[in-house]
Order: sequence, then structure tokens, then C-alpha cells
Amino acid sequence: MFPFFNNNKEQMELDEKNIPKHIAIIMDGNGRWASKRALPKKAGHKAGAQALEKISQAAIDLGVQHLTVYAFSTENWKRSEEEIKGIMDLLREYLKNYIERAKNDNVRVHIIGNILPLDKDIQQQIIELERLTNEKTGMNLHIALNYGGRDELLRAIGKLSQAVAEGRYAPEEIGEKELEQYLDTANIPDPELLIRTSGEQRISNFLLWQIAYSELCFVEKLWPDFTENDLKQAIYHYQNRERRFGGRK
Ligand code: IPE
Ligand code: IPE
Ligand code: MG
Repeated sequence: MFPFFNNNKEQMELDEKNIPKHIAIIMDGNGRWASKRALPKKAGHKAGAQALEKISQAAIDLGVQHLTVYAFSTENWKRSEEEIKGIMDLLREYLKNYIERAKNDNVRVHIIGNILPLDKDIQQQIIELERLTNEKTGMNLHIALNYGGRDELLRAIGKLSQAVAEGRYAPEEIGEKELEQYLDTANIPDPELLIRTSGEQRISNFLLWQIAYSELCFVEKLWPDFTENDLKQAIYHYQNRERRFGGRK
């Protein structure tokens, strides 16, 4: 039983048997949330991190197996030094909290993206958190940090070319499966549902390969205002879409 309220305040129900296994979220709108309150950007990112805590718990309660969230893109380095430092400090705090409570949680945390340009202490926190949660059997939380879909594909193609050069594959053997093994999302099913908050209707270099057939849901609310009920509404929209994958019903 997963009740929620629609926009007319009517109580609705989700189909428990049709919850997406993998939901991806572009958590956008932290900056505007802060501006509306005349607060510094960092306050918006902090509220965004709190929203992530709530939404991951909601996803766990719904039985979602994979939640992938876009936290920092390869393009976000274009922002001011002050804003980037604010985000990185919040990230340190977030990872520290997670490491401390990892024992009592059943979430497996996995980072996608290229973490090498991040500060060394953050890289160490990431390695520690992934190690501590590696055997967890609950939801998989994939956090995209310094992630870009094009960068991910380029890194994968680089590794694949290396494998070809070493004779581990012939070029004609390379199909979708072979490439996917080198993506950051290897062995993770593609998201059935992609949600973006803040009213922007674009992908901004997120999961370019993986969302080929995802249902897209664009939500007006800013990310810090996004609630469990909003997540359920998005899943409800998903459940009422007809997925054809290029075929016919
Ligand atoms: C998303 O919120 C978080 C990051 C990109 C780190 P934004 O900071 O992009 O929020 P807006 O788009 O400026 O409102
Ligand atoms: C996408 O949001 C990246 C994250 C949410 C981390 P942006 O705010 O960076 O995207 P654009 O610039 O509006 O396309
Ligand atoms: Mg934005």
C-alpha cells in the first residue's frame, strides 16, 4: 500500500508491483531555492543534501533497488570558487555522516563519475564509504560526482580501446554489452524513470547512454522542496505511461 495525494488533494495509490527498479534524479534548483530566500548558495546546497536524505529513505521504503542522483557535473567546475568550495565542504560533511552511520544502514553507496580531480581527503572518504557499504543488501545509492555522460563514454571507450590493443577483443566483437561493462554503471540496470526538478527540461550531460528508453518526468518544484509525495507522484506518472521500446502494444 503506497498511498499519496495528487494535485487535487485526492488520495491515490501506487501499483506496488510496478515500482521502477532504478530511478535517476537530476537534483536541480538549489541555487534558486537559496536566492528566493536571499541566502547564500551554500544554504541551498545544504537544503538539497537534506532533501536527498529524505528522498533516499522514501525510495528505500518504496522498494526501489537503485537510486542514482546527480550531485556534481563535469561542467559544474565553471561555477565560482566560493560555490564549489561550499559544495565540496558539504560533500565532506555528508560523506562523514554516512561513514559514521554505515554500520546501522543497509544502503550500498557507490560513486559514479571521475573522482580523481576531487580533493584527496574526499577521495579517501569515498573509498572508505564504498568499502564499508559494499556488502549491504538494501538499496544501491549511486551518487554522481564530477560526472558527465560524455566523459563517462570517453573513459569507457579508452579502456575498451586498450582491451582491443591488447588483443582481448577483436573490434567486430564490440557490442552494447562490451561497452556497458566499462561504463561507471556496469551491471546496473538502466533507469526506467528519470526525474528532473526545478522546471528545466534538459539532460545536462547525465547518463546519456543509460536513459535511451527511460521515461522522463520534469517537475516544477525546486530540489530542496521535493518531497516523498512528489516522488510518488512521479512514479504514478511513470506507471501510467505506455512503454513501447520501439515496438507496438
Ligand atoms: C543543483 O542545483 C545542484 C548542483 C548543480 C550542484 P543548482 O545549484 O544548479 O540550482 P539552480 O539551478 O542554480 O537553481
Ligand atoms: C545539472 O544541473 C547538474 C546537477 C544537478 C548536479 P545544472 O544546474 O548544472 O544544469 P544546467 O546548467 O542548468 O544545464
Ligand atoms: Mg541548476
